[in-house]
Amino acid sequence: MDRLAGKTAIITGGAVGIGRACAERMAGEGAKVAIFDVLADEGRALADALTEAGHEAAFWPVDVTDEAAVKTAIDETAARFGGLNVLVNNAGISGAPKPTDQVTEAEWDRVQAVNVKGVFFGTKHAIPHLRAAGGGSIVNLSSIAGLIGVGGVSPYHASKGAVRLMTKNDAITYAPERIRVNSIHPGYIWTPMVENHLRATSDDLEAAKAAAGSVHPLGHMGEPDDIAWAVVWLASDEAKFVTGAEIAIDGGYTA
Ligand code: NAI
Repeated sequence: MDRLAGKTAIITGGAVGIGRACAERMAGEGAKVAIFDVLADEGRALADALTEAGHEAAFWPVDVTDEAAVKTAIDETAARFGGLNVLVNNAGISGAPKPTDQVTEAEWDRVQAVNVKGVFFGTKHAIPHLRAAGGGSIVNLSSIAGLIGVGGVSPYHASKGAVRLMTKNDAITYAPERIRVNSIHPGYIWTPMVENHLRATSDDLEAAKAAAGSVHPLGHMGEPDDIAWAVVWLASDEAKFVTGAEIAIDGGYTA
């Protein structure tokens, strides 16, 4: 109930999917949560629902590829909630599934902009606030595609591999300031991203869902809470000796 009491957390891409679960679970553990997303209706509705449930929550319409907007929203979050302790760099896109020789430069650049530059901007502008708080926790959403080849989505793989090693570099850089930085590598988690991906690649959603689930040794896809609970832990003081770690939550996919 209170594992994150007194902490303020920003969750990028927090309106739906994994980010939404993070916002809900972190608020449930006592955190004040700031949801950054391009989906304004969903983001506002979630912040309102959390507030009505007795939590402290707010929404900022932010595109993580817009550095000025990211900085402004982070500064406003810290001002509104009295500082910042946790940043969850969750916003991400998969891009169209196609082989490398068919990927356009624009498609490549867009995936890197959201998945890599978005993490850079969030980290860059959160650090001064985490430093001012005497430390903090940054959780970066990478993927199994940042650990191994999955196939068919090379811009996504490149972006998630970049997030994995950016995480380790930042972990070392900021460890003296007690700012911990870790990456999470989910297998398939049932969210709008995966649903859209399966709809784009199959005519039979239920069959595609079962097939995607079956690649995990545990035999099924994960759900957003499977990731959110790990984010709660990494954000909490329970994980005070954990930095630079890459945590696969993938039903055994990469085992
Ligand atoms: P989702 O597509 O269901 O939700 C992503 C959220 O990010 C949405 O609310 C979306 O509006 C927001 N977003 C996208 N671009 C944005 C931008 N430029 N600025 C601000 N917000 C933006 O995705 P899902 O599945 O919840 O994924 C969350 C993270 O987890 C992503 O980084 C994804 O790559 C990663 N991941 C997801 C897996 C899965 O199976 N669902 C597997 C491995 C990694």
